[in-house]
Amino acid sequence: MYALKGNLIWTEEPGCFRVLENGYLLIKDDRIAAVSAEPFAGVMTEDFGSRLIIPGLYDLHLHAPQYMFAGLFMDDELLVWLDKHTFPLEARFSDIDFAAKAYKAFVDDLKYSFTVRASVFGTIHKDSTLLLMSLLEEAGLHGYVGKVSMDRNSPDSLRETTADAIEDELEFLDKVSEYRNVKPIVTPRFIPSCSDGLLCALGSISKEHDLPVQTHLDENPGEIEWVKELMPDSKSYAEAYERFGLLDTKSIMAHCVWITEEEMDILQSHGSYIAHSPSSNMNLSSGIAPVRRFLERGMNIGLATDTAGGSSLSMLRMITDAIASSKLRWRLVDDSLAPLRFSEAFYLASKGGGSFFGNAGSFEEGYAADILVLDDASSEMTVLSPELSLPEKLEFYAYRAPDRRPFAKYVAGKRIV
Ligand code: GUN
Ligand code: FE
Repeated sequence: MYALKGNLIWTEEPGCFRVLENGYLLIKDDRIAAVSAEPFAGVMTEDFGSRLIIPGLYDLHLHAPQYMFAGLFMDDELLVWLDKHTFPLEARFSDIDFAAKAYKAFVDDLKYSFTVRASVFGTIHKDSTLLLMSLLEEAGLHGYVGKVSMDRNSPDSLRETTADAIEDELEFLDKVSEYRNVKPIVTPRFIPSCSDGLLCALGSISKEHDLPVQTHLDENPGEIEWVKELMPDSKSYAEAYERFGLLDTKSIMAHCVWITEEEMDILQSHGSYIAHSPSSNMNLSSGIAPVRRFLERGMNIGLATDTAGGSSLSMLRMITDAIASSKLRWRLVDDSLAPLRFSEAFYLASKGGGSFFGNAGSFEEGYAADILVLDDASSEMTVLSPELSLPEKLEFYAYRAPDRRPFAKYVAGKRIV
């Protein structure tokens, strides 16, 4: 048992910050045991002074192999970007030495980011993906990693036969039991990359092994048109996934930029998650997801970098990009959907996405002890600092210092930074 002292700030629901200046956070094992204005007698306490103490942030969707080219090739939109750049570069992860180099760089940076848990795509390569899992585990990070499944519409170098894809997935699942904190997730890339037979098998595997699922949904108009051609009997893209048993409370659908109300009904009936990826949606010219509508409907939603659609691993940047893109949508597309407020976007990045990993992303009793300590005493922010409220300090930090390292980072009660 130990305690942390500092300026505590968190959200328990969208739109409302909780704050405790010079407060105390009690941690027992891997959980938050209590929040208090008074010190905990007889408990070893680390004093972080005036620094901000916030819950960990959760990246609901990113591609580990793509980190090495995050910030390159932003001139094309999704389908061209995949064919021209992403598929050929992911094919290189068949070489385990290459994968080791690329994944080490990724995990080193993720460790010092604001992300405590993430849901990550690997590549189709089983051994490289297992290596990625060991590196994440060693770094003290938690989350899910998927061996990507693809059996059509990609180059020979990044495609498996349907039978191999199924067999490899099962072999992959056999080998992941040694990891404690990094768990497998069934990962059909998206409908254009997966035959009906493969989607059907992956739906069964997720049910039989009680595993979560991650994939892409309604990201780009060209992609959606293609899915209509590939799935002529489905009413919609979401319904196609539903038909194969891939929608559940433990499913993450990345993007949902062009999702219809009927598809939202489908996702909501299963309690599936939306991974809102504002930076990626701008970089790949995908569009602007109706996040306010998701919130109005009470859907499960979190934020995501979608690296390398997004060029940054910073979840603070995702917060400010989600706000900025919602403002453009409100001004240019639909003024009935109000822009996100800072407190709402912060909620999405913390408890919103955190709930996919259990009770996480808040300082409520029994929640995972995922904690970030931010140094707000940086030079550019000191002039006004003494006059600011804690939410204002946090907003200032998110906009001005999104690429800084956290001063301290705890995942499930264990300090890793
Ligand atoms: N859809 C299918 N694959 C991908 C990918 O790697 N990135 C993004 N943004 N969308 C995809
Ligand atoms: Fe993606």
